[in-house]
Formats: sequence, structure tokens, C-alpha cells
Amino acid sequence: MNETTTSRIKKKPFLFGAIVKPPHFADRKQELKDITSDLASGQHIIMYSPKRYGKTSLILKVLKNMEQDYLTAYIDLFEITSKQKFVEKYINCVVPKGKIEEVAEILKKYIPGILPKITLGENASIVFEAPKIEKTIDEVLDLPQKIAKKKRKRMIVVFDEFQEIKRLGTEDMENIMRSKFQHHDMVSYVFLGSKRHMFDEIFKDRNRPFFKFGKQIVLDKLPKDEFHTYIKERFKATGKKIDDTHIDKILNITNCHPYYTQQLAHEIWNLSNLSVDEKDIENSIENVLRDQSYAYELIWDSIGNYSRSLLLGIATENNNIYSMPFITKYNLNSATNVQKALQILKKKELIEIKEEKYYIEDVFFGQWLKKRMSTA
Ligand SMILES: Nc1ncnc2c1ncn2[C@@H]1O[C@H](COP(=O)(O)OP(=O)(O)OP(=O)(O)O)[C@@H](O)[C@H]1O
Ligand SMILES: [Mg+2]
Repeated sequence: MNETTTSRIKKKPFLFGAIVKPPHFADRKQELKDITSDLASGQHIIMYSPKRYGKTSLILKVLKNMEQDYLTAYIDLFEITSKQKFVEKYINCVVPKGKIEEVAEILKKYIPGILPKITLGENASIVFEAPKIEKTIDEVLDLPQKIAKKKRKRMIVVFDEFQEIKRLGTEDMENIMRSKFQHHDMVSYVFLGSKRHMFDEIFKDRNRPFFKFGKQIVLDKLPKDEFHTYIKERFKATGKKIDDTHIDKILNITNCHPYYTQQLAHEIWNLSNLSVDEKDIENSIENVLRDQSYAYELIWDSIGNYSRSLLLGIATENNNIYSMPFITKYNLNSATNVQKALQILKKKELIEIKEEKYYIEDVFFGQWLKKRMSTA
């Protein structure tokens, strides 16, 4: 480990709210291996997870590992608001950075309809006008295949937050993309998404163009053992000590959610002296809840009584939500009310369902709800 890496760890052993790279990137060894070999063999991938599970960090690590032998491109559709922007961003992402003459030749040959203006330097980019945007989109979508063929290298193209494609006029963009991509034998596509209902509509509805277009992967949280080792190492790297029982406690509270675990670990690390004690954990949770309380109150104010009751119920016990004892205990009155409230909470992405068990998506919101229950 070089000096810069060591001092970065010392400064901030835990990181949340940003894309993570080593040394803040834990585990995912199996996923890295599987995704890499799928993409290398030409398999398209559709990857879903709830927000902040680490999709972007994982896929960027995959691209980093593959960039020696493959052409790679990553585009985040979250920032794209128009077809013009899409075209511009897509060209910048898929045209390999290289000699200016080569970039100009690619553009002239494959997208004759645009008037490019290329800026040089470290943040080299291409700005241009596309007078006939529909025709340009056609040409631009074929760029990865053409470049891959020219360079005789497979290209991996990642669309992050793919559900945002709807901003560009869903049906026709999806149709055009699908009709192009299916002929691209030199390109492996990856589609990432975190809005389940929108993502499912695109890939699981047999009437939509992208129905079953690739291998579907649901990214899980991090495995407990690996996260345990990671937390222990991070504390050690900064000269602090944390007992196994305290690490277990953190992971039980966060349920191994990547973002919330890093957040809580950071808070504890920040608060503790040389050795973590029980009080540090309690105080850290209090701090996070205090910071978030305004946001949680806004959520609370925006939902009806049955949704509130169901949230409180799920925060306390996560299964049998349709059973009579649950309905009675949380004043839900009927199974229909449970069902309706569940739809609302799902749409608002406040809960996650896994193996027929229900979870509050934001683990600290879960803690906030539990506290509310105990003081009610
Ligand atoms: N492999 C990992 N090891 C440790 N922490 C991780 C890992 N992956 C993600 N995290 C934590 O989760 C946070 C969110 O990661 P990332 O932005 O990659 O997730 P995402 O699923 O793309 O989120 P979103 O749905 O908001 O786009 C990171 O800031 C980091 O704290
Ligand atoms: Mg992301």
C-alpha cells in the first residue's frame, strides 16, 4: 500500500454517498467474476437492486478490470433530459479517447449528420449540433458496434439508471434501441436500475421491446462475513479497535445494507476514541436519526393512516402482515387495507420485499419508526 492510499484510509476509512473504489470497496468477488465472464462472452445484463446497494460501484469496477482487453463505455441516463443531450453524451462515452484525427475520422465516417466541436485537454469532450436528431440517433446507436468492429475489440456499454430512458419518449427510444442492439454482435450491454416497478415494466412486460433482453441479476446486500472483515480492517488501518460483538451489532442494525453500514461505521469511527464501546454505537445511531429526522417527518406527513400503521408494523415484525393478529395489533382493520397500503409504500420505495419478508428500505427510518412506536 503506498503512502497516498494509507493517508486516504486514515482520513476516511468509510465512505458513503459516493461511488466506492478500493480501499472502500468490499467483497463482491463472486459478482465481479460472474459479470465479467458473462460480458466477455457477449451476454447482455439487466441488473436491479434497491437504491444504494452498490450497482454503480460494482459495474465501474468490472469496467476497470476489463478495460485492458475491452472497449468500455458508461453512461448515466439520470443526467439526460433530451435526445440532443443523449446523443452528445453517448458519443462522448463510446468514442474511445485517443488521437484527435482518429476521433474526427470516426465521427465523419459514422455520424456524417453532425457538426462537431472537439475540446482538447484532460477533460476532452465533443460538443456538436445535430440538425436531424432522429437520423443522428440512429447512427449514434450503431456507433459501439462499428467502433468495436473497426478496433476488433468487444465493447461493453453500460446504461446506468436505464429506467430514465422514458424522459426521451419511452416507446420509440426503446424500439429503436432494441432494433439496433439485437444486431450488435460485438457489443455487450448492461442495464442498471433502482426503480423496481419502472425497471420491471421495461424488461418483464412481454409487449415491450426489451422483454427478456438479457440475463437478469438482482444484486444483493454484502455478505455478512465479508462486511465484518472489511469493518474490522478499516478500523485497524486507522489505529482504532472494534470488537467482533460490536461489528455484529452494527451489521444486525443495518442488515448489511452497503450504504447504511458504511454510514453507521463512519459515525462510530468518528465518535469513538481508540476503542469502540457500546455507548459509541448508541450515540452514533442517535446522531444519524437527528440528522435525518426532518426528512423522515416529511415522509410521515405525506402518507395516510393505514400506510403509517403498516410501516410501524413492518418496522417491528417483518412477516405475516396479512394475518389477523398483525392486522389487529396495528389497527389495519382488513387485509384489503394492508394490500392498498403496501402498494403505496412499494411505489414510494419505502419498503423492500425479500423472500416474502418485508423490510423498511432505509434502516435508520426503521429505527426512527421503532422509536416512534415505543413513545406512542
Ligand atoms: N462493494 C462495496 N463495499 C462497501 N461499500 C459499498 C460497496 N458498494 C457500495 N457501497 C456503499 O454503498 C454506497 C452506494 O453505492 P453505489 O452508488 O455504487 O450504489 P447504487 O446501487 O449505484 O446506488 P443508486 O441506486 O443510488 O444509484 C456507497 O457510497 C458505499 O457507501
Ligand atoms: Mg448508482
